Amino acid sequence: MDNRKKYYYALFGNPVNHSLSPIIHKIFSKQINLNYNYKTILTPKNCLKKFLDNFFKKSDNLGANITLPFKTEVLKYVDNITKKAKISGAINTLKKINEKHILGDNTDGVGIIYDLRRLNFLKKKCKILLIGAGGAAQGIIPYLLLNKNIVFIYNRTFLKALNLEKKFCNIGNIICLKKECLKNNNFDLVINATSSGVFGGVPNIPKSIISENVFCYDLYFDLLKETPFIKWCKKNGAINVKDGIGMLVGQAAYSCYLWNKKFPDVKKTIKILQKNI
Ligand code: ATR
Repeated sequence: MDNRKKYYYALFGNPVNHSLSPIIHKIFSKQINLNYNYKTILTPKNCLKKFLDNFFKKSDNLGANITLPFKTEVLKYVDNITKKAKISGAINTLKKINEKHILGDNTDGVGIIYDLRRLNFLKKKCKILLIGAGGAAQGIIPYLLLNKNIVFIYNRTFLKALNLEKKFCNIGNIICLKKECLKNNNFDLVINATSSGVFGGVPNIPKSIISENVFCYDLYFDLLKETPFIKWCKKNGAINVKDGIGMLVGQAAYSCYLWNKKFPDVKKTIKILQKNI
């Protein structure tokens, strides 16, 4: 990379206007002392290939992030795929290797592991309760399993949790639970991977599974106030609680590393975001 040149990166998705990624990458570019620009590109459904082709044909456009709803569709677009993207079955980061080759990677899983370690929320062989069985849950399960944890999944719709158990049981120890079994188990870490926070709600789980000894992590985040899940966990005795801003910054940091071979300071970036928004 030439420090005197400006490089361009972009986020493709729909919607993208709410994304914090341009602000995060602006902070990163200062931290790692590289002059790069990062913008969002609202991509109509069925137009991903056309938009990506258009972007990557410019020589200074070197990489991209991909968000909903294109994380699996983009698998068809890439020429090479990393092991991380392969086990996730989804791609969130692209890197132009040369004019003919685009590499697809997934930094979501490593982003959450990085954040949970940073927070000291992961003990050895942690018993994790993962609530939710949608795209967000699916993206992180392989990583939680590869780190030798036991993952229990609970989802409002049991069948979806069962499908995830079947999908990932060859990677590690994963067990889906029905609601009535939740209170018979002790967990070290409870992760909310439902989208309930978007609507101000919390998943309906027994409060007896929460205590001062249980770490609580919400994939959903709100820079201005506590998320409904974090509030609920604290009300029921949890002390160690965090929302998912660290995961967002963590996955962005791994994308930045893939593009620029420099890893930014996640903790400092979170502080800057919390102070300025
Ligand atoms: P995402 O990509 O954010 O994971 P998704 O794939 O639509 O979004 O999945 C949303 C997840 O949140 C699902 O597991 C959903 O449960 P169902 O499978 O039963 O629909 C869960 N969810 C959403 N709102 C919820 C609520 N109020 N209580 C419990 N679970 C909820």
